[in-house]
Amino acid sequence: MVVDPASFFRLDGKVALVTGGGAGIGQAIATGFAAFGADVAFCDLTEASLGDTKAAVEAQGRRALPMTGDTGNPDDIARMFEAIDSTFGRVDILVNNVGATKRHRPEEHPLDEWNQVLAIGVTGAMLCAQQAFHRMTAQGDGGSIINISSIAGAAALGRGNLSHSVNKGALNMLTKELAVEWAKHGIRVNAILPCQVLTKGFQRWLDSPTFDPALMDRFLSGIPMNRLATPEEMVGPAVFLASNASSMVTGTLLPVDGGNLALNAGGSHTWLTA
Ligand SMILES: NC(=O)c1ccc[n+]([C@@H]2O[C@H](COP(=O)([O-])OP(=O)(O)OC[C@H]3O[C@@H](n4cnc5c(N)ncnc54)[C@H](O)[C@@H]3O)[C@@H](O)[C@H]2O)c1
Repeated sequence: MVVDPASFFRLDGKVALVTGGGAGIGQAIATGFAAFGADVAFCDLTEASLGDTKAAVEAQGRRALPMTGDTGNPDDIARMFEAIDSTFGRVDILVNNVGATKRHRPEEHPLDEWNQVLAIGVTGAMLCAQQAFHRMTAQGDGGSIINISSIAGAAALGRGNLSHSVNKGALNMLTKELAVEWAKHGIRVNAILPCQVLTKGFQRWLDSPTFDPALMDRFLSGIPMNRLATPEEMVGPAVFLASNASSMVTGTLLPVDGGNLALNAGGSHTWLTA
């Protein structure tokens, strides 16, 4: 397959859906996709959380389709794809960005919250991917699915992150299975594994009385680049995976983590003696 390098990193004429696009990483990716030429549909839980992303997409001269919808609700997912059909008539890129976190000791994790985390995260991502698959195959020119996973899906975090990590680990295998099954349709499926990302929500947690400042030292000791990521630093990798620049890339789990997963838990990025 010969790909024109002029098309690398361009998303002109493409339609993307970003779940959880009202804030954080999803908002940054939705806005970034528009800057690279895509029209962008996105969903979030409430009407109030949609306005900023709509304005940001439109400021790039692209069309925005804001939708209320919960990825934990299969009916909402079906309704959102129908709205994309009526507004854009196609979908080329899906970003499964929504995740849910419930922290509990493993031995005490309530079943209802366990089911909720997996329903919102991995089941929601699978159902969105199914909806996207039918449209992408009918369109006949492939597509790109990007799952926003986490370093937690590749190595355990502890500290009550059981359901979160299991959800992201399942998302990683969803990525690989769909990549293998759908490669013949030209649908590429990849995942991004961020380290801790300084979203507004994350900053609120850092500022809250429940946050133990010692935890920041733990985060940084695991990140050779010695800082947290920003939401905007997820955009370049997402544009790469969405565009022709990655035309031979599928089934990959791409850490965007400042070197976190390269570092052995017993290693360190600073010398222990001066
Ligand atoms: N922030 C981090 O440190 C970090 C690190 C690694 C991975 N991630 C992953 O990145 C993704 C985005 O995280 P973020 O930090 O940007 O979150 P965020 O809370 O800043 O934004 C998430 C958005 O999704 C919306 N949302 C939540 N549940 C939803 C649902 N069921 N249906 C539709 N929308 C929903 C929220 O209202 C919010 O607007 C998540 O999957 C998360 O696990 C985040």
